[in-house]
Amino acid sequence: MSDFHINTETCSKCGICVDVCPANVIEKNTNGIVAFKQENIAICLGCGQCMAVCNTKSIFAKGLKYETDLFEFADTESFLSLLQHRRSVRRFKAKAVSKEEIEKILQAVSYAPHGDSHQHVEITVVNSREKIMEALPLMSAFFDKLAGWLHNPFMRKMIQFKKGKHTLNTLNNHLLPRIERGVYRDFSFEYDGITRGASTLLLFHADKNSEEHIEDAYIFVTYAALAAEALGLGATIIGLVPAAINKSAELRKIFQIPENHETVVSLIVGYPKYKYKRGVKRELKKINWLN
Ligand SMILES: Cc1cc2nc3c(=O)[nH]c(=O)nc-3n(C[C@H](O)[C@H](O)[C@H](O)COP(=O)(O)O)c2cc1C
Repeated sequence: MSDFHINTETCSKCGICVDVCPANVIEKNTNGIVAFKQENIAICLGCGQCMAVCNTKSIFAKGLKYETDLFEFADTESFLSLLQHRRSVRRFKAKAVSKEEIEKILQAVSYAPHGDSHQHVEITVVNSREKIMEALPLMSAFFDKLAGWLHNPFMRKMIQFKKGKHTLNTLNNHLLPRIERGVYRDFSFEYDGITRGASTLLLFHADKNSEEHIEDAYIFVTYAALAAEALGLGATIIGLVPAAINKSAELRKIFQIPENHETVVSLIVGYPKYKYKRGVKRELKKINWLN
């Protein structure tokens, strides 16, 4: 059996898997049949989202198995259960998040640990799909430009020199194949491949030279994502947005990010369109016990 297949006898053809797939690997053909796009299988992230959301356990991606690679939800009350339930949400209802709900998320972020006694990380709340839409063409154009750089040996060396080999690897292995398949070129009010149609975008930014702002920003965004889940909202950490903002004066202007600031990370927030029925098991890389 192929690593990617669909049981067409049990598939209800609801198409939810098509909607939640972050890499545009699944499609519904004109007869309503759900199928993998053979030309995009290479860019499947192996995130397991299609399997986690499937009502009939009919889809199988990247060799994952329901019995061993996914888990059914346990008790729904504890904090651990909240952690189990959280998923990166990439399809939202067309319903704006209220200011009160965002304030609750921000309140939760204020409980987070931070590395320096002073707070350095600022949060910009973009609570308008229209505002996000204004920025999307600029972000998309930036990613096309980045693809050009990644094919230029001199620019590759520059990126490695300035940002390190790990960043170059991420750009090459993760981002470039998606840019080239047009994942970030597609945007409408309802959905786009960068901010996933979310109505709210939180930007975490700080003075470039401030102490421990990068570590703090990642902890803050994690608190915000968990708070969103606890409030019945959905969220996803988005690394693409800061990458574009930091390289574009126009984007900084749209989001009013000060000149001396770097945007570290962003979070999209909205009402999830679908409810996940089970979780995706993940192995930690390695645990070294020193007893
Ligand atoms: C630093 C960081 C950056 C991320 N950037 C993106 C992004 O740009 N786009 C996206 O769809 N997901 C992004 N994600 C979400 C991951 O893809 C997601 O966490 C992963 O697929 C696991 O899925 P889960 O969160 O549902 O468990 C990012 C996550 C992290 C931690």
